[in-house]
Amino acid sequence: MRGPPVLVACSKDTIFFFTGRYNNLRYSTLAETVDFDQPDGEDRDHKWFARFAFPEIHRFKPKGYHHIANFVVAKEHRKAHLSSLMLAAIRTHYSRDHLRAHGRSVGHAQHLLCGRGFWQIGDPPWLARMEHLDFFLRRGAESFFIEHDWAPLAKIYDATGTELTNVAFNVSYGLPARYLEQAPATLVAEHEHLLDRIPEVLRLSRDPRAKLQYFQAMFDFL
Ligand SMILES: CC(C)(COP(=O)(O)OP(=O)(O)OC[C@H]1O[C@@H](n2cnc3c(N)ncnc32)[C@H](O)[C@@H]1OP(=O)(O)O)[C@@H](O)C(=O)NCCC(=O)NCCS
Repeated sequence: MRGPPVLVACSKDTIFFFTGRYNNLRYSTLAETVDFDQPDGEDRDHKWFARFAFPEIHRFKPKGYHHIANFVVAKEHRKAHLSSLMLAAIRTHYSRDHLRAHGRSVGHAQHLLCGRGFWQIGDPPWLARMEHLDFFLRRGAESFFIEHDWAPLAKIYDATGTELTNVAFNVSYGLPARYLEQAPATLVAEHEHLLDRIPEVLRLSRDPRAKLQYFQAMFDFL
Protein backbone atom coordinates (compact mmCIF):
# COMPACT_ATOMS: atom_id res chain seq x y z
CA MET A 1 0.00 0.00 0.00
CA ARG A 2 1.24 3.53 -0.77
CA GLY A 3 1.86 5.85 2.16
CA PRO A 4 -0.15 9.02 2.78
CA PRO A 5 0.93 11.93 0.54
CA VAL A 6 2.20 15.22 1.88
CA LEU A 7 3.79 18.08 -0.03
CA VAL A 8 6.98 19.15 1.77
CA ALA A 9 8.91 22.27 0.80
CA CYS A 10 12.57 21.40 0.30
CA SER A 11 13.54 24.98 1.08
CA LYS A 12 12.46 26.75 4.26
CA ASP A 13 11.93 29.78 2.00
CA THR A 14 9.05 28.23 0.02
CA ILE A 15 5.42 29.10 0.70
CA PHE A 16 3.04 26.93 -1.33
CA PHE A 17 0.09 29.32 -1.33
CA PHE A 18 -0.86 32.80 -0.19
CA THR A 19 -4.51 33.85 -0.44
CA GLY A 20 -6.20 32.46 -3.53
CA ARG A 21 -3.97 34.45 -5.86
CA TYR A 22 -0.41 33.23 -5.29
CA ASN A 23 1.27 29.82 -5.40
CA ASN A 24 4.87 28.74 -4.81
CA LEU A 25 6.30 31.95 -3.45
CA ARG A 26 9.64 32.64 -1.83
CA TYR A 27 9.08 33.98 1.65
CA SER A 28 12.23 36.13 1.52
CA THR A 29 10.91 38.08 -1.48
CA LEU A 30 7.19 37.92 -0.72
CA ALA A 31 6.94 41.60 0.20
CA GLU A 32 8.23 42.51 -3.28
CA THR A 33 6.44 39.75 -5.24
CA VAL A 34 2.97 40.35 -3.84
CA ASP A 35 1.14 43.53 -4.78
CA PHE A 36 -0.59 44.35 -1.49
CA ASP A 37 -2.26 47.34 -3.09
CA GLN A 38 -3.93 45.46 -5.95
CA PRO A 39 -7.59 46.13 -6.69
CA ASP A 40 -10.25 43.52 -6.02
CA GLY A 41 -10.37 42.20 -9.60
CA GLU A 42 -12.21 44.62 -11.87
CA ASP A 43 -13.42 46.59 -8.85
CA ARG A 44 -11.03 49.54 -8.65
CA ASP A 45 -12.76 50.96 -5.56
CA HIS A 46 -11.75 48.10 -3.29
CA LYS A 47 -8.56 46.24 -2.48
CA TRP A 48 -8.12 42.47 -2.68
CA PHE A 49 -6.23 42.34 0.61
CA ALA A 50 -9.04 44.13 2.46
CA ARG A 51 -10.71 40.69 2.40
CA PHE A 52 -8.15 39.25 4.82
CA ALA A 53 -6.51 39.84 8.18
CA PHE A 54 -3.27 37.88 8.67
CA PRO A 55 0.02 38.33 10.56
CA GLU A 56 2.44 40.96 9.30
CA ILE A 57 4.49 39.66 6.40
CA HIS A 58 7.86 39.94 8.16
CA ARG A 59 6.68 37.28 10.65
CA PHE A 60 3.97 35.50 8.70
CA LYS A 61 6.10 32.35 8.50
CA PRO A 62 8.22 30.94 11.35
CA LYS A 63 11.85 31.01 10.20
CA GLY A 64 13.20 27.52 10.73
CA TYR A 65 10.28 25.51 9.40
CA HIS A 66 9.40 23.78 6.10
CA HIS A 67 5.94 24.44 4.71
CA ILE A 68 3.78 21.35 4.20
CA ALA A 69 0.48 21.09 2.37
CA ASN A 70 -2.02 18.59 1.00
CA PHE A 71 -1.58 16.20 3.89
CA VAL A 72 -4.32 13.66 3.32
CA VAL A 73 -4.99 9.97 3.84
CA ALA A 74 -7.62 8.15 1.78
CA LYS A 75 -10.84 7.82 3.80
CA GLU A 76 -10.71 4.05 3.97
CA HIS A 77 -7.19 4.12 5.52
CA ARG A 78 -7.73 6.81 8.17
CA LYS A 79 -7.01 6.16 11.85
CA ALA A 80 -4.70 3.26 10.93
CA HIS A 81 -1.72 5.37 12.11
CA LEU A 82 -0.35 5.83 8.60
CA SER A 83 0.16 9.56 9.17
CA SER A 84 1.93 9.09 12.49
CA LEU A 85 4.10 6.44 10.89
CA MET A 86 5.00 8.69 7.96
CA LEU A 87 5.82 11.69 10.18
CA ALA A 88 7.97 9.50 12.40
CA ALA A 89 9.78 8.11 9.33
CA ILE A 90 10.43 11.62 7.93
CA ARG A 91 11.71 12.80 11.29
CA THR A 92 13.93 9.73 11.75
CA HIS A 93 15.41 9.52 8.25
CA TYR A 94 15.18 13.02 6.72
CA SER A 95 15.68 15.54 9.52
CA ARG A 96 19.33 16.54 9.66
CA ASP A 97 19.09 17.64 13.27
CA HIS A 98 17.33 14.46 14.34
CA LEU A 99 19.96 12.31 12.62
CA ARG A 100 22.75 14.31 14.30
CA ALA A 101 21.09 14.27 17.71
CA HIS A 102 20.90 10.47 17.55
CA GLY A 103 24.36 10.02 16.02
CA ARG A 104 23.03 8.23 12.95
CA SER A 105 24.33 8.47 9.38
CA VAL A 106 22.13 9.15 6.37
CA GLY A 107 20.79 5.94 4.86
CA HIS A 108 19.59 7.30 1.52
CA ALA A 109 20.62 9.68 -1.26
CA GLN A 110 17.80 12.21 -1.01
CA HIS A 111 17.62 15.75 0.35
CA LEU A 112 17.72 16.14 4.11
CA LEU A 113 15.45 18.64 5.81
CA CYS A 114 17.67 21.16 7.57
CA GLY A 115 14.98 23.05 9.46
CA ARG A 116 13.45 22.71 12.90
CA GLY A 117 10.25 21.11 11.69
CA PHE A 118 7.09 21.51 9.61
CA TRP A 119 4.76 24.47 9.33
CA GLN A 120 1.20 24.23 8.16
CA ILE A 121 -1.47 26.77 7.26
CA GLY A 122 -4.63 24.79 7.99
CA ASP A 123 -8.38 25.14 7.66
CA PRO A 124 -10.10 25.40 11.08
CA PRO A 125 -11.21 21.72 11.35
CA TRP A 126 -7.68 20.53 10.68
CA LEU A 127 -6.18 21.84 13.90
CA ALA A 128 -7.68 19.13 16.14
CA ARG A 129 -6.56 16.43 13.67
CA MET A 130 -3.05 17.83 13.45
CA GLU A 131 -2.79 18.15 17.24
CA HIS A 132 -3.36 14.39 17.39
CA LEU A 133 -0.32 14.08 15.14
CA ASP A 134 1.93 16.13 17.49
CA PHE A 135 1.50 19.42 15.67
CA PHE A 136 0.87 22.43 17.90
CA LEU A 137 -0.88 25.72 17.32
CA ARG A 138 1.26 28.74 16.47
CA ARG A 139 -0.40 31.09 18.91
CA GLY A 140 -1.59 34.43 17.60
CA ALA A 141 -0.99 33.54 13.92
CA GLU A 142 -4.63 32.99 12.87
CA SER A 143 -5.91 34.49 9.61
CA PHE A 144 -9.44 35.78 9.16
CA PHE A 145 -11.69 36.58 6.22
CA ILE A 146 -13.11 40.08 6.56
CA GLU A 147 -16.65 40.43 5.24
CA HIS A 148 -17.70 43.59 3.37
CA ASP A 149 -20.92 44.57 1.66
CA TRP A 150 -18.91 44.36 -1.59
CA ALA A 151 -17.40 40.98 -0.55
CA PRO A 152 -20.01 38.83 1.25
CA LEU A 153 -18.88 35.45 2.61
CA ALA A 154 -20.65 32.18 1.83
CA LYS A 155 -23.30 31.33 4.43
CA ILE A 156 -22.25 28.76 7.02
CA TYR A 157 -24.42 26.17 8.75
CA ASP A 158 -23.93 23.87 11.73
CA ALA A 159 -24.59 20.12 11.69
CA THR A 160 -28.31 20.70 12.32
CA GLY A 161 -28.62 23.03 9.32
CA THR A 162 -28.88 26.23 11.42
CA GLU A 163 -27.13 29.23 9.91
CA LEU A 164 -24.09 30.36 11.91
CA THR A 165 -22.84 33.90 12.35
CA ASN A 166 -19.14 34.52 11.84
CA VAL A 167 -18.74 34.98 15.59
CA ALA A 168 -20.48 31.64 16.29
CA PHE A 169 -18.23 29.99 13.70
CA ASN A 170 -15.16 31.40 15.46
CA VAL A 171 -16.51 30.17 18.81
CA SER A 172 -17.00 26.68 17.36
CA TYR A 173 -13.24 26.57 16.70
CA GLY A 174 -12.25 27.73 20.18
CA LEU A 175 -11.98 31.49 19.63
CA PRO A 176 -11.76 33.59 21.68
CA ALA A 177 -11.90 31.03 24.53
CA ARG A 178 -8.51 29.43 23.92
CA TYR A 179 -6.74 32.76 24.43
CA LEU A 180 -8.63 33.62 27.59
CA GLU A 181 -6.92 30.66 29.23
CA GLN A 182 -3.28 30.65 30.29
CA ALA A 183 -0.86 29.14 27.75
CA PRO A 184 1.70 26.57 28.92
CA ALA A 185 4.78 28.68 29.63
CA THR A 186 7.37 26.29 28.19
CA LEU A 187 5.58 25.92 24.86
CA VAL A 188 5.24 29.65 24.48
CA ALA A 189 8.84 30.45 25.40
CA GLU A 190 10.51 28.14 22.89
CA HIS A 191 8.74 28.91 19.63
CA GLU A 192 7.90 31.68 17.25
CA HIS A 193 4.42 32.31 18.58
CA LEU A 194 2.93 35.75 17.91
CA LEU A 195 1.95 36.48 21.49
CA ASP A 196 1.66 40.22 20.99
CA ARG A 197 -0.88 39.62 18.20
CA ILE A 198 -3.24 37.66 20.48
CA PRO A 199 -5.20 40.81 21.49
CA GLU A 200 -5.79 41.42 17.77
CA VAL A 201 -6.92 37.79 17.29
CA LEU A 202 -9.29 38.23 20.25
CA ARG A 203 -10.67 41.42 18.71
CA LEU A 204 -11.11 39.77 15.31
CA SER A 205 -12.74 36.66 16.75
CA ARG A 206 -15.46 38.89 18.29
CA ASP A 207 -15.91 41.06 15.18
CA PRO A 208 -19.17 40.12 13.39
CA ARG A 209 -17.44 40.72 10.04
CA ALA A 210 -14.45 38.44 10.71
CA LYS A 211 -14.52 34.69 10.08
CA LEU A 212 -11.61 32.42 11.01
CA GLN A 213 -9.83 31.39 7.81
CA TYR A 214 -6.69 29.52 8.87
CA PHE A 215 -4.76 28.36 11.88
CA GLN A 216 -1.01 27.96 11.69
CA ALA A 217 0.40 24.77 13.17
CA MET A 218 3.95 23.51 13.68
CA PHE A 219 5.68 20.18 14.20
CA ASP A 220 9.16 19.85 15.69
CA PHE A 221 11.74 17.36 14.45
CA LEU A 222 13.41 17.30 17.87
C1 LIG B 1 -5.72 14.23 9.28
C2 LIG B 1 -5.33 12.93 8.59
C3 LIG B 1 -4.20 13.22 7.59
C4 LIG B 1 -4.84 11.95 9.69
O1 LIG B 1 -4.39 10.75 9.07
P1 LIG B 1 -4.49 9.31 9.75
O2 LIG B 1 -3.51 8.41 9.06
O3 LIG B 1 -5.90 8.89 9.82
O4 LIG B 1 -3.95 9.62 11.22
P2 LIG B 1 -3.40 8.54 12.23
O5 LIG B 1 -4.13 7.24 12.04
O6 LIG B 1 -1.90 8.49 12.17
O7 LIG B 1 -3.89 9.17 13.59
C5 LIG B 1 -3.06 9.73 14.58
C6 LIG B 1 -3.94 10.12 15.74
O8 LIG B 1 -4.89 11.11 15.31
C7 LIG B 1 -6.23 10.65 15.54
N1 LIG B 1 -7.04 11.09 14.41
C8 LIG B 1 -6.86 10.78 13.11
N2 LIG B 1 -7.80 11.40 12.36
C9 LIG B 1 -8.58 12.10 13.21
C10 LIG B 1 -9.71 12.94 13.05
N3 LIG B 1 -10.25 13.16 11.85
N4 LIG B 1 -10.26 13.50 14.14
C11 LIG B 1 -9.75 13.26 15.37
N5 LIG B 1 -8.66 12.48 15.58
C12 LIG B 1 -8.08 11.91 14.52
C13 LIG B 1 -6.13 9.14 15.61
O9 LIG B 1 -7.18 8.58 16.36
C14 LIG B 1 -4.78 8.97 16.27
O10 LIG B 1 -4.90 9.17 17.67
P3 LIG B 1 -4.27 8.08 18.68
O11 LIG B 1 -2.79 8.08 18.39
O12 LIG B 1 -4.64 8.64 20.01
O13 LIG B 1 -4.94 6.78 18.32
C15 LIG B 1 -6.54 12.28 7.88
O14 LIG B 1 -7.60 12.18 8.81
C16 LIG B 1 -7.02 13.06 6.69
O15 LIG B 1 -6.56 12.83 5.58
N6 LIG B 1 -7.99 13.98 6.88
C17 LIG B 1 -8.54 14.79 5.81
C18 LIG B 1 -7.57 15.82 5.30
C19 LIG B 1 -7.00 16.67 6.40
O16 LIG B 1 -7.72 17.14 7.28
N7 LIG B 1 -5.70 16.91 6.34
C20 LIG B 1 -5.02 17.69 7.35
C21 LIG B 1 -4.71 19.02 6.93
S1 LIG B 1 -3.59 19.15 5.54
